[in-house]
Amino acid sequence: MGVLARKIALVTGASSGIGAATARRLVTAGFKVCASARNPEALRDLRDLGCTTLPVDVTDEMSMRQAVQTIEQADGAVGALINNAGYCQPGALETLPIQAVREQFDTNVFGLLRMAQLVLPGMRRAGSGRIVNLSSMGGKLVFPGLGACHASKYAVEALSDVLRFEVKSFGIDVIMIEPGIIRSGFVNAAISKLPDPQTQEPYAAFDATIPGALREVYEKGVLAELGGGPDDVAKMIERAVTDHVPKTRYAVTASAHLLMAQHAVISDHLWDHFLAAQFPRPGT
Ligand SMILES: NC(=O)c1ccc[n+]([C@@H]2O[C@H](COP(=O)([O-])OP(=O)(O)OC[C@H]3O[C@@H](n4cnc5c(N)ncnc54)[C@H](OP(=O)(O)O)[C@@H]3O)[C@@H](O)[C@H]2O)c1
Repeated sequence: MGVLARKIALVTGASSGIGAATARRLVTAGFKVCASARNPEALRDLRDLGCTTLPVDVTDEMSMRQAVQTIEQADGAVGALINNAGYCQPGALETLPIQAVREQFDTNVFGLLRMAQLVLPGMRRAGSGRIVNLSSMGGKLVFPGLGACHASKYAVEALSDVLRFEVKSFGIDVIMIEPGIIRSGFVNAAISKLPDPQTQEPYAAFDATIPGALREVYEKGVLAELGGGPDDVAKMIERAVTDHVPKTRYAVTASAHLLMAQHAVISDHLWDHFLAAQFPRPGT
């Protein structure tokens, strides 16, 4: 059990997908787990499995503070923070309401950093801890129509790389998880956030292709076959909290390994050509 022996793992966004699978996997393996979500009612199954549950919205300072305080009063410090809460805001960048971009960063970036800031004093007092940040292969490469989401995950990569350096000598590891295509609530949540087409000219037709493209990638195409499910990510998160010397990054699924390797060796122009073969270009 390594770092988590006698300590507690706090999982954000545990109401579905990767967060739920991670809480389930860790508690089943014998860890102490606090599963958190905006709506704690959605955590009933995890509570029945033995998780403690708390309400946490990573855009709400008070809920984050209270959750960390509650855990510290009972357990001294958070042993591992699984910074999982997140979603994908689609839409062409020129017309995407700037408020939607702010909200994307509020959840995926500022929420993740704030949770880390809140657990770090306890981890420093304890002299150990792990912060596991859900990045994405989309923090290393981009698909059109998902610019706000990619920008947030590139930011997670940068924050995590810097934080890893800054907290290492306090006995704390910062680890990134880079999933590829994972079938979860992710696609439906993204589609529900598409901006109103009436405000999106000249990108309305392009934005209208995003749901189909997402479903193709996640459900039907070659990449879908190279994808995985939430438990594939949960398995890697368990390694991130238990490996004696954790890696800085854990890529998950063949889709992530393949696309990140391809992106690393080809030029930006070749990547643009690759995308143009898969996605429509606005204005053509
Ligand atoms: N699925 C993929 O292909 C993929 C690939 C790379 C990275 N990821 C990352 O993996 C993480 C989990 O995604 P998933 O695939 O499991 O999608 P999901 O099934 O949609 O789960 C997302 C979770 O985040 C929660 N959440 C959203 N906003 C929140 C907020 N303000 N405060 C607290 N919780 C919030 C959701 O809670 P509600 O139930 O309250 O909405 C839900 O529990 C995300 O960070 C995502 O970016 C996913």
